[in-house]
Amino acid sequence: MYKSISLEIFVENTWSDLGEVEILESQVNDGYKAKGNFQYDLEYLDKHESQLFTNGIYAASVRYPLNFGYISEESWPAFLLDLLPTGAARINWLRRLDLKDGPTADFELLAKGAINPPGNIRVKFEGDLFSKLGNHPGFDYKEVTGRGVDFIEYAENLGAVVSGTSGAQGVAPKFLLSEDVLGNWHGDGAIADKTVKKNWLVKFPRGKKKRDYQILKSEGIYYEVARDLGIKVCGPLKWDNDTLFIPRFDREKDKNGNLIRKGLESLISAMGISEYGVSKKNEDYLTVLHKYCSDPSRDIKEFVFRDFLNVIMGNTDNHGRNTALLKSENKIEISPLFDFAPMVLDDTGIPRATKWKNETSHIPNFQSIHQALRSVDLSEDEIILFLKESFEKLEGIRERLKNKGMEEDILDFVTRKYDDFMTHYQTYLSSL
Ligand SMILES: Nc1ncnc2c1ncn2[C@@H]1O[C@H](COP(=O)(O)OP(=O)(O)O)[C@@H](O)[C@H]1O
Ligand SMILES: [Mg+2]
Repeated sequence: MYKSISLEIFVENTWSDLGEVEILESQVNDGYKAKGNFQYDLEYLDKHESQLFTNGIYAASVRYPLNFGYISEESWPAFLLDLLPTGAARINWLRRLDLKDGPTADFELLAKGAINPPGNIRVKFEGDLFSKLGNHPGFDYKEVTGRGVDFIEYAENLGAVVSGTSGAQGVAPKFLLSEDVLGNWHGDGAIADKTVKKNWLVKFPRGKKKRDYQILKSEGIYYEVARDLGIKVCGPLKWDNDTLFIPRFDREKDKNGNLIRKGLESLISAMGISEYGVSKKNEDYLTVLHKYCSDPSRDIKEFVFRDFLNVIMGNTDNHGRNTALLKSENKIEISPLFDFAPMVLDDTGIPRATKWKNETSHIPNFQSIHQALRSVDLSEDEIILFLKESFEKLEGIRERLKNKGMEEDILDFVTRKYDDFMTHYQTYLSSL
């Protein structure tokens, strides 16, 4: 016997039934470790016949091209773990649904809490979540920044729809908010698409220590430095009243004013891993990008360059759920940068999550990176050019950070791997 959950997908300007997930009932209390199946909705397949066997924006996962088959897995299909509330959102949903934490809660959390995650897939919601649509006038910007992390509770008490706000995963408390054309703010999903001006991910510090504030404030600075270095970064961020406002890259208004939702899938999901906190190597991620991206060599180079920045700017939290694939019509690409911050500052001591197969004390062996790039089909000339150009871009990183407002008392600490990294890098370039 199975327990089932219906999924919906947003393609061609509308939500459609995507398919059914079935979880083996006798194992349901094992949470995401329970056996699970997935099958595409037959009407959906008929309607999108021209997309059969494609694995982009129309698919549940890059691993499951549209097909009539029955997909059977030993645990939950991995893409569901991208939808399941985690971190601060999980705590929020456990409270709201009055559930005790543990694997026994996973199924309910997915069924009821995955109703509005980033990306274009959601769990179908049968209740009256959005029935108050349009009833609340929204809040002004000052009410959002003034209340900080208590904003949602405040909004809920005033009768606003807030169920769509805690869809994003991750440890830091955060809300998904929509700004309307009049400049008022709402919980995501509480207003009609046509009235949305911009969608935001509003992020708060992980804790109450000074360091937590410094990390989040620096996150805004880090994105700007990355942008100047040619990395894909979402629109300008705003730091205000200890709150970071991040524009959403999975939402876009098209030229007719329609709100487009892009697909989003973590690299861990793309690898088919139904687990959290797994430890993989950067080479494994290169293989995933090579397999699924529309322009693999471009995205592979971007990924490697991002990891160089991780090392020299002290972002140790570079796990495979902090990089994703973004899917739009006819395209799968590495998503814009997210969760890029000086995590070495975190008091809990976050070790570097993803390493190269061959690295010592955060400093990679450049020759083996060179070989790894060869094995994902980059040409010798392209690799050498990439390595040389990247080196030049990395020089002067401290000045760049300082110029963007990085506080001097933490600058040396977060960039403490820089000298060693650049020395090894230079030595390798000289040997070419
Ligand atoms: N700009 C953005 N647009 C859309 N989705 C985003 C954006 N930034 C982050 N996300 C999604 O939200 C999740 C949580 O954000 P993240 O910055 O990783 O928070 P945390 O520091 O708590 O891990 C990410 O895993 C990603 O799926
Ligand atoms: Mg994260």
